[in-house]
Amino acid sequence: MQPEIEIREAGPADVESLSRIGHVSFRAAYEEWSEPDDLIAHLEDFFSPDAIRGEMDLPGHTYLIAIRDADPVGFVKIRENARPNEVPATRALELHQVYVLPQQQRFGIGGLLIAAAARYARDKAADGIWLSVWRDASWAVNCYRKYGFEEVGTTEFQLGRTVYSDLLMWRPAELTR
Ligand SMILES: CC(C)(COP(=O)(O)OP(=O)(O)OC[C@H]1O[C@@H](n2cnc3c(N)ncnc32)[C@H](O)[C@@H]1OP(=O)(O)O)[C@@H](O)C(=O)NCCC(=O)NCCS
Repeated sequence: MQPEIEIREAGPADVESLSRIGHVSFRAAYEEWSEPDDLIAHLEDFFSPDAIRGEMDLPGHTYLIAIRDADPVGFVKIRENARPNEVPATRALELHQVYVLPQQQRFGIGGLLIAAAARYARDKAADGIWLSVWRDASWAVNCYRKYGFEEVGTTEFQLGRTVYSDLLMWRPAELTR
């Protein structure tokens, strides 16, 4: 049975929750693939409360948070960012981070966050959402395919001294799954 999930825009009062979800989920997914120093630097740069507060204050940056039984369990960050040429849309928003706590995964919460991001994009008159994902993150690539994303190209992501090969993916905003 699908759990009852509320998804709403996150604000300053949610920063600690976003930070905790980001730390726990990123570490669980990527620790075994990362150099320890790089991992710690990445967690600080992207998921410390100060980093999240700073991002939240930037124009065109929005966090949506998922709440299950009053507990924050996941989030998606959307940003207005230059679209890569491979993305076949006139105006697309970037889905920059999607994180669900490990023990809350595979209940459809990631899908609800993606659907909420697509609704947000439609409200902003965007015709699509795009993202980049490490090509070996099979769990995430599977998830994005399940919710209608298609591969349109490749790019790179640098974490410390390591360069990872990423897929570029996109989906039209009007898809409802
Ligand atoms: C990607 C992520 C947000 C998906 O969240 P979720 O709540 O599990 O998503 P949903 O339950 O809506 O969708 C699950 C689908 O994702 C894929 N998936 C999720 N976990 C998977 C796993 N361990 N192995 C294979 N496929 C997996 C499957 O397609 C699955 O569908 P299924 O359950 O019908 O087989 C979550 O796995 C996560 O936070 N991972 C760690 C952080 C991360 O890698 N984020 C993406 C960065 S680009």
